[in-house]
Amino acid sequence: MPEPITPVAFPPNFLWGAATSAYQIEGAVREGGRTPSIWDTFSHTPGKTAGGDHGDIAVDHYHRFHEDVELMAGLGLGAYRFSISWSRVQPTGRGPAVQVGLDFYRRLVDDLLAHDIKPAVTLYHWDLPQELEDAGGWPERDTALRFAEYAQIVGEALGDRVEQWITLNEPWCSAFLGYGSGVHAPGRTDPEASLRAAHHLNLAHGLGAKALRSVMPARNTVGLSLNSSVVRPLTQDPADLAAARKIDDLANGVFHGPILHGAYPQSLLAATSSVTDWSYVLDGDLRTINQPLDTLGLNYYTPTLVSAADPDRQGARADGHGASEHSPWPAADDVDFHQTPGERTEMGWTIDPTGLHELIMRYNREAPGLPLYITENGAAYDDKPDPDGRVHDPERVAYLHGHLSAVRRAIADGADVRGYYLWSLLDNFEWAYGYEKRFGAVYVDYATLERTPKSSALWYGEAARTGTLPEVEGA
Ligand code: FCB
Repeated sequence: MPEPITPVAFPPNFLWGAATSAYQIEGAVREGGRTPSIWDTFSHTPGKTAGGDHGDIAVDHYHRFHEDVELMAGLGLGAYRFSISWSRVQPTGRGPAVQVGLDFYRRLVDDLLAHDIKPAVTLYHWDLPQELEDAGGWPERDTALRFAEYAQIVGEALGDRVEQWITLNEPWCSAFLGYGSGVHAPGRTDPEASLRAAHHLNLAHGLGAKALRSVMPARNTVGLSLNSSVVRPLTQDPADLAAARKIDDLANGVFHGPILHGAYPQSLLAATSSVTDWSYVLDGDLRTINQPLDTLGLNYYTPTLVSAADPDRQGARADGHGASEHSPWPAADDVDFHQTPGERTEMGWTIDPTGLHELIMRYNREAPGLPLYITENGAAYDDKPDPDGRVHDPERVAYLHGHLSAVRRAIADGADVRGYYLWSLLDNFEWAYGYEKRFGAVYVDYATLERTPKSSALWYGEAARTGTLPEVEGA
C-alpha cells in the first residue's frame, strides 16, 4: 500500500509565478524600431539552431500579451518574470530610449497589475544588441558601461510599478556558452574571452544595480538569477573531489565570489592562470560588483557530476544546452563530466530534486539572511495534444511536485525562499534547440499559435490558488 500523501502547504505569502524571456517568446523582431540582437544574428546563421529555427515570430507574445496575461490570471498565478529586449528599448544598445519599446513593456506591466499579478523584470536574458557585440561584446569593458545606461533607462520607465528587479539571467551561459563552447550567441570559442566576459558581466551587474537604485523607489528589490550548479564528485577519491571543486569555482565561485563576497576565489585565479592573467579586473571593480543584494534568484534543472579525467573512463563534455567540440569550461581538460543516474527529461537532464534542496541550503549558508527566489525550474517533454485537444503531461506534474516539495523542505529547514517561477509559462524558442523542446505549462501550436494549458498548468494553478501542492498520483 502506498503511504497516504500529506498535503504540502507553503507559507501564506509565497509567490507562485511563471517565467519567460523576451527573445524566446516575443517575435515582432523588426517592429517599433527594434534592432537585431546577437540571437537574431546567431539563429539566422546556418547550422546554429535545430532546424534553423529563430525567434522572428516565436510565440508572437508581442501581439498576444493580453491573452497571455489573461491565461495567467485564469490559472491563478501571482507573479510573472519576463525579460526586456534591450534593442527594443534602446536600439543598437546606445543613445536615447525608444518610446514605442518602453510603452510595450508599460502596457504589459499595467495589464499584469490590473490582474493582480506581480511583475518581475529581468534586464538581460542573453539578447545583447548586435552593435555592442560588433564593438567587442561582453569581453569588452564598455559593454558593462552600456548596460548600466540601459538599466537606468528601464529603471526610470518602470521603477514606479515593478518592485522585483533582476539584472542578469544566468551570466554563466552568456559567458561560457556564448564565448567558450559557442553553442549560444554570439558563438565564439575563445576560453580567455569567456573569462573576460564573465568579469564584465559581473561588472555590469554591479553597475546596473547601482544605476537602478539611483532612479527607483527604495522599496524595490534588486538581485540577479544564477544557474548555480550543484557539482558532485563521482567518487570520494581526492582527485574527483578536486575536480568537483574546480568546476564549482568555474560554475559558481566566478560569480558569487565577487558578487557576494567581493573577491574571486584564489583557487579559481590559480586554476585559470594558463588561460588568462585577469588583468582586466581593475581597481575598484570588485567593490562595484559587491553591491548589497536584496534578493538572489536561483535557476535549477539538474545536478552536475564530475571526476578527474581518466582516459579509460567514458567522460563527456556536458554543458546542458547543446553539443560542441569546444568545452565551455576554461582550463578544465583534466575534468570529465558524467550523466547523473536516474530518469531524464526530454533535454537528457536527470531529474533530481535533492539537488534543488542542496542548492538552496548552500546559498542559505553562503548568503545568510538574503531572501531567495527560485527564478527558474521546469522540464521539457514531448507533449502532444490528445484527439480531444487536451494536453496531458503527468511527467511535468511529477517533476514540479518533486521540486516544489524540495523547496518546501528547504523552507522547513530554515531557508528564506520567497517564491518560485516555473520555467516556462509557454512553449517557446529553446535557444540552440529551437522549437523542438517544449518547456511550457501552456502548449503552443506553432502553426496557429493557439495556446492550450497542459494538465501541469492546471495543477500548478491549483497550487498557486491554494498555497498547497495538490496530490499527485504515485508521488
Ligand atoms: C535556462 C534559461 C532559459 C531556458 C531554460 C531551459 O538556462 O535561462 O532561458 O533556456 O534554461
